Amino acid sequence: MAISTWYFGLVEFVGVFSVALVVGVGGWLAHRDAISVGTVAAFVLLLANLFDPVQQLSQLYNTVQAAAASLHKLYELIDAEPDVAEHPHPVDLPASGVLAAHDVTFAYDGSTRPALVGLALSIAPGERLALVGPTGAGKSTVAKLLSRLYDPTAGRITFGDVDLRLASMGSLRRCIVVVPQEGFLFGGTVFDNIRVARPGATNDDVVEALAAIGVLERFEELPEGLDTEVRERGSRLSAGERQLVSLARAALVDPAVLVLDEATSNLDPGTESVVERALERLMGGRTVIVVAHRLSTVQRADRIAVIDHAHLVELGTHAELVARGGRYAALVEAWLRSQPASHV
Ligand SMILES: Nc1ncnc2c1ncn2[C@@H]1O[C@H](COP(=O)(O)OP(=O)(O)O)[C@@H](O)[C@H]1O
Ligand SMILES: [Mg+2]
Repeated sequence: MAISTWYFGLVEFVGVFSVALVVGVGGWLAHRDAISVGTVAAFVLLLANLFDPVQQLSQLYNTVQAAAASLHKLYELIDAEPDVAEHPHPVDLPASGVLAAHDVTFAYDGSTRPALVGLALSIAPGERLALVGPTGAGKSTVAKLLSRLYDPTAGRITFGDVDLRLASMGSLRRCIVVVPQEGFLFGGTVFDNIRVARPGATNDDVVEALAAIGVLERFEELPEGLDTEVRERGSRLSAGERQLVSLARAALVDPAVLVLDEATSNLDPGTESVVERALERLMGGRTVIVVAHRLSTVQRADRIAVIDHAHLVELGTHAELVARGGRYAALVEAWLRSQPASHV
C-alpha cells in the first residue's frame, strides 16, 4: 500500500514536471526561433502518450496486489481445513443433547506446552455458558474444541453422547455453528451471501432467517433490497451489517449449538444495539458458548467458566462465583472499576 501510494505520486509528479520542462525549454527555443511552436505542441502530446501507459501500469500494480492478497487468504482457507477429518463410518449427531468435554487435554501442533489440561465440562441443552479469563488462558481453544475445529490430544468431546470425531461433517456443521467476530462477504447479492451457509436454501429461507433475527426490514431498505450487490467497488455494507449477515447465516443453519468469540472492539453504539438484539434473538432456545469480554455478556449467561493457564478454575452462576470471592469476583471488580456504572 505504501509503495503503491509512493509510486503513484512519483509517476504523477514526473508526468507534470516533464510537461512543464518541455513547455519551458521548448518555449525558450521557439522564442529564439530554434524550433517551431508546432514541434513543442507535438512534444507535449507525445509526452502524454508516454505517461498514460506508465500510470496505467501503476494501477495494474494495485490490482495485482489486491489479487495476491485475496489468493493468500484463499490459501489460508484451504490450509485451514485438514486439521480434522471425517470418520470412515460417520454417524449423524442427534437434534439436541448435552455438549460435554470429558477430561480433555489439547496442545497445538509443534507446541510443547498444552493449551488446555484436563477440561471436564457439561453444558445442558439451551444453556448459555460464558468463558472468561486472561488473554492466552485458553478460552478460544475451548471454543474451537467444542466446535471440532480441532480434536483433543487426549479425552473426548461429545454431543448427545456421540463423540464429535464420529460425527459426519454435514451433521456436525448443522448442529454446531461458530459465529465469527467479523462478517466476511463474497461477491454477489445479500441473498447469495447468506445462502452460502446452507447451499440449496431458497430465497424464502433467507428471508425467513433474516426475519427470525428481526433484521429483514433493514436489508429490504437497501437500494435493490436483498438483490443488492454487496461488493461493487468495496463493501456497501457497514461493519454492523456485515455482522448481521453472519448472524443471518447462523439463523439459516438453525443449529442446536452456537459458539461465539465476542469482539473486543466495539461497534458504534447505534449499530451495536441492533447487532446485540439480533444476536439475542439468534441465541434464544439454543445452547450457547460465548468467549466473553464484557460484563453485560457474562451477566446474561446461565453459568460462567473461568479459564486460567489452560485450566478450568471456577464454574458457576454469576451470583455463586461473586459470593465465592475468588478469581471471577476479582474479575468483576476490575470490570466495574474500568467502566462507568451506566454501561453495566
Ligand atoms: N494456532 C495456534 N498455534 C499454537 N499455539 C496457539 C494457537 N492458538 C493459540 N495458541 C496458544 O494457546 C494458548 C491459549 O490460547 P487461546 O485459547 O487463544 O487463549 P485466549 O482465547 O484465552 O486468549 C496461548 O498460549 C496461545 O499462545
Ligand atoms: Mg481468544
